[in-house]
Amino acid sequence: MSKTTNTVYLNGQFLPIEQASISVMDRGFLFGDGVYEVVPVFGNKLLRPEGHLKRLQNSLDRISLDNPHTVTEWQAVFANLLDHNPGDDRAIYLQISRGAYARRDLRANQDCAPTIFAMVLHVTPPDIDVLSAGISVITVDDFRWNACDIKSTSLVANVMLKQQAADAGVDDAILIREDHVTEGTASNIFLIRDGVLITPPTGHQLLPGITRDLVIEIAKNNAIIVEEREIKEIELQDADEIWMTSSTREIAPVINLNGQAVGRGVAGSVWKRMMDLYQQYKQHLRDNEAVPPE
Ligand SMILES: Cc1ncc(COP(=O)(O)O)c(C=O)c1O
Repeated sequence: MSKTTNTVYLNGQFLPIEQASISVMDRGFLFGDGVYEVVPVFGNKLLRPEGHLKRLQNSLDRISLDNPHTVTEWQAVFANLLDHNPGDDRAIYLQISRGAYARRDLRANQDCAPTIFAMVLHVTPPDIDVLSAGISVITVDDFRWNACDIKSTSLVANVMLKQQAADAGVDDAILIREDHVTEGTASNIFLIRDGVLITPPTGHQLLPGITRDLVIEIAKNNAIIVEEREIKEIELQDADEIWMTSSTREIAPVINLNGQAVGRGVAGSVWKRMMDLYQQYKQHLRDNEAVPPE
């Protein structure tokens, strides 16, 4: 995020960020009792808003919180925010917490209005040259809970795991549960072996990334074989390529894992091809109303 946003959405109102405030009793603040989404915007077009709103609904259902808005209402909020905060590449951040109760109480059975917040993030799109240079990662123990499919605002475990990577002097971490790969600290993991694209299946152990879906779709439409299956930790050592995908980082090639080169130690040829296709997809989104997957 490079610029400060000005107009934000809070509980039905659009107002300057300086005037947006919530109660210290808000359960989002006290417990991390809430969920969120980040929707990339290219030009003036949202990337897969229906996928993000579906995932939002899933997160809300999982924590038994009603969706405060219909899809049409959300779309109106997004459009209004984008109008108020012009720019090229941006992202919509939205978060819903269970609201503020009178007493600090873990029980979530009181009738209380949720806190609904959204803002525009001014993002700098990843520079292809910088991305091509690749990133270094370590593997760390995935000690998180068994509900990682919820895009929860309780992110302290992810903060700790990301810090482990920073303390080790690397860019990020691949999370290992028992003997298999789950995801990154804020991304999904892909591996290339003999030309096949492999990624762990969705479930309670990882967030179903919208970028993950898109990468799988692009691969399938371009004759790249995709396998959604468990990846053993040991398989990372023999991978020709490893990628980390997310809305903000797009597709980052991992060139070094635990101090060892991945493949030839440079961004691989399948990554280059996928990155081209992904950029074409973004350009198509910018230029057109309806976006057929490519
Ligand atoms: C834990 C985790 N996994 C995966 C992702 C990737 O999801 P998406 O591609 O929708 O950004 C994220 C994104 O923030 C994340 O936090």
